[in-house]
This record gives sequence, C-alpha cells and structure tokens, in this order.
Amino acid sequence: MMRRSLVIGNWKMNGTRASAESLAQGIIAGLGADIGDIAVCVPYVYLSSVAEVVKGSRLALGSQNVADKASGAYTGEISATMLKEFNCQYALVGHSERRSYYGDTDASVAARFVQAQTQGIIPVLCVGETLEQREEDQTFAVIDQQLNAVIDSAGIAAFNNAVIAYEPVWAIGTGKTASDEQAQEVHHYIRQFIAAKDQAIADKVQILYGGSAKPDNAKGLFAMPDIDGGLIGGASLDAESFLAVYHSISE
Ligand code: 13P
Repeated sequence: MMRRSLVIGNWKMNGTRASAESLAQGIIAGLGADIGDIAVCVPYVYLSSVAEVVKGSRLALGSQNVADKASGAYTGEISATMLKEFNCQYALVGHSERRSYYGDTDASVAARFVQAQTQGIIPVLCVGETLEQREEDQTFAVIDQQLNAVIDSAGIAAFNNAVIAYEPVWAIGTGKTASDEQAQEVHHYIRQFIAAKDQAIADKVQILYGGSAKPDNAKGLFAMPDIDGGLIGGASLDAESFLAVYHSISE
C-alpha cells in the first residue's frame, strides 16, 4: 500500500507577521517536484496573511489547535468554522504542549478532533509518551489511551480523514530524536492498533513522526515502513532546513 507522504511544519509561538509571510514564500519558492504533501501550522493571528501567500501554491495551511466547541461564550477560543474561512486544511489536536501546559485532556482532544472534521478540516492527532512513561514501559498503554479516547467518541471511520502524529515528549525540542527503529516500533504498533479495528483504514492512515526531526535524520526516519512523514517544530522555522526535511521523503 503506497501512502502519500506528508510533512507538516509546526511554527508554535514564533515569528512576526513579516517573518511568517517570508518563511511561507521561501518554502513555496523551493518546493520543486511534487513528492508528497506539505503544510505549515501557523499562529492563529498570522493565518490571514499566510493564507494570502499560499494561495495557488501546493503549500497547505493548518492551525495549531481548534476549539472543542462549535461557537458561543468561550473567550479566547477559535472555532473550526473560523479556521475554515482561512482555508485551513489541517488542525493539530492534542499536541503535548497543549496537554501539559494548557490542560487539554483526552476528552477535550477528542472534542477538538470532532469539531475539526465537522468543517472538513483534517485533524492531526498528536500522541506520545513522556520519558518517565517510556522508562516504566508505559509507552503502548499511553498510546492506547490517547487513541481510544478519540476512537470512542469519533468512531474508527473518522480516521479515514485524519492524520496521526507520534511525538515522543522526550524528543520534542530536546535535540534527542527517537532512533529510526524506536520510532518505527511505535508507528507499527499504532498501525496494528488501528488495523485491529479496521484494516483498510490502517493501511491508509498517515502516521507522522515528530520530535527533533531535522535534515540530518529525516531520511532515515522517513525510510521506515510505517513512517509516512514528519511533524516538524524547530527545523520548520527556516525555509532551507524545512525544505531539506521535505526533500528527505523517499520517493
Ligand atoms: P521539534 O521538532 O522542535 O522537536 O518539535 C516537534 C514538535 O513538537 C512538532 O509538533
């Protein structure tokens, strides 16, 4: 089964409006041949500017989160309907920084996932264990719980239009990448977990690796059979390094 590769940049809380626009321009300028899909998840306030830049290009736009409710008295939140207006194709849900610093729970992550899909936005469900959980052999149990929370509320069929990102918390922003084999082991586990519920969806769902992925380790990671691309933080803040990661996709 050939799955299309996908590389997504997560800019997190970085940049200015001007730097966001020029970063998007730089990425578009260096895209080259269509070897896979590529997107950037930009800060909410720059969606409008970057949406103008990416218009007509194959660089897709995404958000870094989405509200767990459709609309109403939820001060500070941004709904899926609002994101759709700016042509967001993807929305990250359940990023570990959201879970650990801002209290996003399994239940709210599931609700965000569902909200994104109501607007045809593809949720990128982030899962992954902390170092402590890995050392206690809890990695698979953590993944089970994070996936089940979404499957229980959205149903397995929802994964026809979703992406999963495996981001070991201990590898995020630390410069410590999972080895190709360590990452492949968990990606394979995730695919088997989905396959136990629906084989066709498991064959099709894109599973991205995130956590200190950069130009010098992306090729090895992307060559693994169950790794379909990457969710890139630090290395996505520079057009040249993000493009180098994108061009590491094995054709
Ligand atoms: P780094 O690539 O900076 O480790 O970040 C990974 C990440 O959290 C992407 O969502």
